[in-house]
Amino acid sequence: MLKKINPTQTDAWKALEIHSQNAKHLHLRDLLQADPQRFDKMHVHLESLLLFDYTKHRVTEETLSLLEQLFTEMDVRGALQSQLRGERINETENRAVLHTALRDPRTEPLLLDGEDVRALAKSELKKMLRFAEAVRSGRKRSHTGMRFTHIVNIGIGGSDLGPRMAVEALKPFSDRALTVHFVANVDGSDLHECLQKIDPETTLFIIASKTFTTQETMANAEAAKSWLIQQLGDAQCVEKHFVALSTNHEKVATFGISKKNNFGFWDWVGGRYSVWSSIGLPLCIAIGSKAFESFLLGAHNIDLHTENQPFRQNIPMLMAALGIWYRNFLGATSHVVLPYDQYLHRFAAFLQQADMESNGKFVDRSGNAVDYPTGPILWGEPGTNGQHAFYQWLHQGTECLPADFIASVHPQHPLHAHHAKLLSNFLAQTKALALGRPAADTAFKVFEGNRPTSTLLLDSLTPYALGALIALYEHKIFYQGVVWNIFSFDQWGVELGKEMANVILPELEGEESLGKHDSSTSALLEYIRARTKD
Ligand code: F6P
Repeated sequence: MLKKINPTQTDAWKALEIHSQNAKHLHLRDLLQADPQRFDKMHVHLESLLLFDYTKHRVTEETLSLLEQLFTEMDVRGALQSQLRGERINETENRAVLHTALRDPRTEPLLLDGEDVRALAKSELKKMLRFAEAVRSGRKRSHTGMRFTHIVNIGIGGSDLGPRMAVEALKPFSDRALTVHFVANVDGSDLHECLQKIDPETTLFIIASKTFTTQETMANAEAAKSWLIQQLGDAQCVEKHFVALSTNHEKVATFGISKKNNFGFWDWVGGRYSVWSSIGLPLCIAIGSKAFESFLLGAHNIDLHTENQPFRQNIPMLMAALGIWYRNFLGATSHVVLPYDQYLHRFAAFLQQADMESNGKFVDRSGNAVDYPTGPILWGEPGTNGQHAFYQWLHQGTECLPADFIASVHPQHPLHAHHAKLLSNFLAQTKALALGRPAADTAFKVFEGNRPTSTLLLDSLTPYALGALIALYEHKIFYQGVVWNIFSFDQWGVELGKEMANVILPELEGEESLGKHDSSTSALLEYIRARTKD
């Protein structure tokens, strides 16, 4: 089980507080100038995969050793072992957290309640890979005997963001004869627009929902089913055109999807960590089983990396520690992720759920309100687009926040001149943010600099590299949650709004008098009802 330690009571935290008073005055310009060897000491290179450079951070050797001490006092390595061993570290839901087992090629049993989770994961993976290949090869046919050309994933949150981001990221590796669509929103325009683009005879619907009770997903799934039956004029078509990805076999059966067409997973896979499970099916169909296995392996190798490397060579630990430094000691309220890669245009959206649903918590592991900030706002957009939108704020705004710059040395397209331009911007931005321009003819042109950045430079954005990239962030999020003494794997904060929506829905649709609400909600409800009467 995870220890319940208030991080502010550790020696390292207290020392970091004192240290931060001086460190506030450090400038990256001086740090970079004072030590020409700074890069040599502050980067991690994973051969033929990626380079992580943390030279441009407002830290000294003392900062880093205090952060390392904090990690030791908070026992982050012990916590990782608890996770990997399958202890029920998601205490408020009484669940283990074993998404790492889904990408673990090792065959030694890993037991949870007497069951070997590695073996379970492998057998479900095999079923999914076989199915994906059958769709890709055309062996799996539609109700009218046609090849599938459209795949529609209906799911939301973790049952959408991971596969959607990964399908976009790995487009160059995908079978272009298949188009993968994603429908998430309960706003009917999402499904409506998708239905305009697909051919009912050649469309496979994937209903992705861990619980198979999520309002948005079930509404879209039911509507898609009715639409298909109406289009094909035969209720039997559901058997060939619908599959489910879910832990809730009963509900899947009630919906009308047979057991063989349900690709299962387990309660020890959190929604936002589920892209490695059968939730990855749309990706697997898009890129094929070999590439999907490579995606899993890339993540597994990061699991081994973070388990075994010392702090100063451990990328997720460094990412987590630097984030804590800015959040808790230098007052940063947000963290920006800037992929200079159009294929990663959904990466920040994916990370938003992974990070903010995990660490957006104000209650510690003992049930007390924390008296220190926990997870920051995470946001981002691809470069160079962001440069023409919000970078003004990054360079000359009044807040200083850490940024992750991500790019690949080799592009996945043949336009090499474009890539040189992209990378020149990529390098120029982190340099400009760090050094600024202290003197100018007017104050309006002054750049203070001292804006910290990490650089994550992939060799190229392959399935293996994407798996590794996601896993780096997953472990970062985990370590931060451990240090903040919060539970990172529950999400009670999404419940209240859902409950209230269930009360409001019949009131919105019905004629009866309204229940008790605050004056604003009642007035808005009445307003909508009055305007939708006829
Ligand atoms: O919005 C909360 C949430 O529970 C997420 O954590 C989850 O990823 C999403 O809803 C979807 O849940 P499900 O896969 O059960 O439909």
